[in-house]
Amino acid sequence: MKNHTLIWGAIAATGVAALWLFAAEPAPDKAHKLTTISPRKFADSLHSVIAADREAYARLVVERLAVDGRHIQVAQDWEGKPCLPIHAQLLRHAATGIQQRGAEFSYTLRSLWPINPSHGPQTDVEKAGLEAVAREPEANFYTEELLGGRSYFTAVYPDRAVLESCVTCHNEHAASPRRDFRRGDVMGGLIVRIPLEF
Ligand code: HEC
Repeated sequence: MKNHTLIWGAIAATGVAALWLFAAEPAPDKAHKLTTISPRKFADSLHSVIAADREAYARLVVERLAVDGRHIQVAQDWEGKPCLPIHAQLLRHAATGIQQRGAEFSYTLRSLWPINPSHGPQTDVEKAGLEAVAREPEANFYTEELLGGRSYFTAVYPDRAVLESCVTCHNEHAASPRRDFRRGDVMGGLIVRIPLEF
């Protein structure tokens, strides 16, 4: 009993001493306090959100309901039909919605082998970025770009065939200019643009 009282007494005393020390010492300045975010970090963060949402749609909706389950179709002419939109159409819809909400940044899906011809590279930077991520899939491509008199930070992230359904659907699509995609291949790139002038 006496021992217990002693131990608890010691713990309480240490606690009080620690609290006193904490109160007496001013909090040290954090060495890397974040006051601004670099365009690259901003683009990387946006890409993480977009990529995670795309993968969730592909895995949790399209694969389960349309590919494995065959409960519902996924098709480009989904409007007016009881079927799911293609992932790229969903992405375009969201990207337009974000712009309508006033976002200054933008993002789009592109490829050197597009099913939809409007997804081909639209600027020299897009072409260089798509070629770079196709050559070196482990590295993202970052640069600055002047468009309409405004400079942008432009990032290109490899878009890889993470699921078998990416490969089969693209290889079998009538409008696909490439039919030898394999699992893990880079199929295109997600372009993120952040304006550098406001
Ligand atoms: C059910 C078929 C289907 C599946 C599954 C699918 N895609 Fe697509 N994908 C398309 C179609 C169709 C388009 C063009 C849609 C449009 O814009 O009209 C497209 C567009 C794209 C584009 C833009 C270039 C282009 O071809 O127009 C990329 C890049 C792409 N898909 C990559 C992927 C990846 C990576 C996966 C797997 C995570 C995947 N796709 C799964 C059908 C599919």
